[in-house]
Amino acid sequence: MSKVVKIGILTLSDRASEGVYDDLSGKAIRELLDEWIVSEREYVYKVIPDEFELIKATLIEFIDTLGCDLVLTTGGTGPALRDVTPEATEAVCEKMMPGFGELMRSESLKYVPTAILSRQTAGIRGSCLIVNLPGNPKAIKECLEPVFSAIPYCIDLIEGAYIQTDESKMKVFRPKNKKIS
Ligand code: MTE
Repeated sequence: MSKVVKIGILTLSDRASEGVYDDLSGKAIRELLDEWIVSEREYVYKVIPDEFELIKATLIEFIDTLGCDLVLTTGGTGPALRDVTPEATEAVCEKMMPGFGELMRSESLKYVPTAILSRQTAGIRGSCLIVNLPGNPKAIKECLEPVFSAIPYCIDLIEGAYIQTDESKMKVFRPKNKKIS
């Protein structure tokens, strides 16, 4: 029997963490994943301020202590002084996966010319893939939809949980001869 998929949703926002506004981006991530993924799954979720050390510690907690296979962050990817999500991501990863950021930025340009202001990236820590998304709620689908088809196979390759989707909603790509254990 395959392992339950553990997914971390981490929102980085000074104002949302103070309760100034609702975390609509974190909710948007959860809604999309619930629509696409059919595998049994559990979520861990936190909203924290844009603090480098706290982001690092929370990513490590989600992955090393709670066993996440996938962590999606939202916010803190821009050029503002307090935006440090990509740096914190890189600090906890053993390998970076720059293709995710490249594709998300180029797809986002179809919607907003300011897409190039996001420094969003992705990387691997142990058996977990971390992907950064911008903080704008409407950016979540704009960014996640074009890259998601490659995420389950990436997690197979690092020996994380096996993710199955509803193919009518999100078709994933796995090379044909891949052995599934
Ligand atoms: N990408 C998409 N798809 N949609 C958006 O609305 N906003 C951009 C960019 N990428 C945006 C986007 C803007 S205006 C900024 S400043 C950067 O993401 C960084 O956002 P963040 O600091 O909230 O992560």
